[in-house]
Amino acid sequence: MNIVYVKNNEQMSLMAADIIASSILHKPDAILGLATGSTPIETYALLVAKYKVGALDFSQVRTFNLDEYAGLAPDHEQSYRYFMNHHLFNHTNIAMENTHLPLGNTSDHEKQCAEYEKKIEAVGGIDLQLLGIGSNGHVGFNEPADVFYMKTNVQNLSAATLSDNKRFFKGENEVVPSSALTTGFGQIMAAKSVLLLAGNGKQEIVQKAFYGDVTPQIPASCLQFHHNCTVIAVR
Ligand code: GLP
Repeated sequence: MNIVYVKNNEQMSLMAADIIASSILHKPDAILGLATGSTPIETYALLVAKYKVGALDFSQVRTFNLDEYAGLAPDHEQSYRYFMNHHLFNHTNIAMENTHLPLGNTSDHEKQCAEYEKKIEAVGGIDLQLLGIGSNGHVGFNEPADVFYMKTNVQNLSAATLSDNKRFFKGENEVVPSSALTTGFGQIMAAKSVLLLAGNGKQEIVQKAFYGDVTPQIPASCLQFHHNCTVIAVR
């Protein structure tokens, strides 16, 4: 894996947007694996800016997001569907039917996971997988565990993740959902390339995940075995 160090979040976002844009330019019908969280927001804004000046065309791009909170409807303001529409999809010419996330508000989460897995398989997997990293090393919502979960699955969120993500849930009665549907390591490791962004504040977990042992207790460490993974990390 390649680890590229940059000075700040701005440089990280600029580099990430250029890499994603170049992947769309090379393959206009690219299949992008996308992530949420605060880290990629600026990258998405830069991609929107490139689209607005005519430098990028999303008309054939297909996207599959990593995860969704269990129990949240797509129009819930904290759902990842809402996040993606708000930060990227609504501002480009991507066809909404080409954008995919697991549905959080179905009655059968396991069935939804199996269907989502099949949808990704049906298109032949992900070309470029964008990832963030949780402070405990989670990717998507694959939390520290005894094994690396391969398939799309339902995860109970750890205390660390619930506490990290609390900041997004501001309404008085809003509690952070305690579980989520997430793509597993099968699809992530099968992606043709992976781009992981680690902004300021993630220095400690970057050290542990990419310079230490590969262990499901630090899920991102699995990427040490990916054949084409780039990490852009703020020094
Ligand atoms: C959430 C998402 C992850 C993301 C992580 C880090 O838990 N499910 O995909 O990487 O948050 O978030 P942030 O970028 O806000 O630090």
